[in-house]
Amino acid sequence: NKTFPWTPALLQWFETNQRPMPWRQTSTPYYRWLSEIMLQQTRVDTVIPYFNRFVERFPHIEALAQASEDEVLKLWEGLGYYSRARNLLKAARVMVAEHQGTFPATEKAALALPGIGPYSAAAVLSMAYGVPLPSVDGNVLRVYCRLTALAENVLEPATVKKVQQVLKTAMPQHRPGDFNEAMMELGAVICLPASPLCQNCPIQDHCEAHGQHRVDQLPLRIKK
Ligand code: ADE
Repeated sequence: NKTFPWTPALLQWFETNQRPMPWRQTSTPYYRWLSEIMLQQTRVDTVIPYFNRFVERFPHIEALAQASEDEVLKLWEGLGYYSRARNLLKAARVMVAEHQGTFPATEKAALALPGIGPYSAAAVLSMAYGVPLPSVDGNVLRVYCRLTALAENVLEPATVKKVQQVLKTAMPQHRPGDFNEAMMELGAVICLPASPLCQNCPIQDHCEAHGQHRVDQLPLRIKK
């Protein structure tokens, strides 16, 4: 099985340097699911107080499933993209009706939930249950394209599929959640879209784009 030579250094950096976030303290599926939905279109700093208020009012999925849509939307007020909140409530009700009140542990069941696509399914399943699926978002694509000097258009679904496939087989099968979160974290604090902090990067020695002085040219984002 192919593995990446840079995975150990990445995971070690994540262990000591990750920013504390309330949902990172446990692998509770509910917390992982809720935070991934909130983080989809919203920054970490904005999400944290919303997340804390939300889990205080709805401490578990059953409590959420019993809420009215109005109350859920009220707690979401200011976060935007309100279909996320409506789908959250619908999905909570499906989990109570069909999955014993918890986030299901298989990809097929997760993808059948309202508001859950391949990215969020992989994120929740890997972080909550250790299922080895890569969560490939914009941050992860940028990190991966730079690391491997992959000069393919990340706005093409075929490129995303290809990266998903490679990561799925080469990610550490015993720590998929940490790997996914470490990739996101590296993209969020070091491997920035503009002016990345390569001098602080734990895997700079492994970065093809850095070696080729092409970091500022990758990833390719070509609008058709
Ligand atoms: N963005 C999406 N999921 C995230 C996570 N688990 N940690 C930080 N940023 C994220």
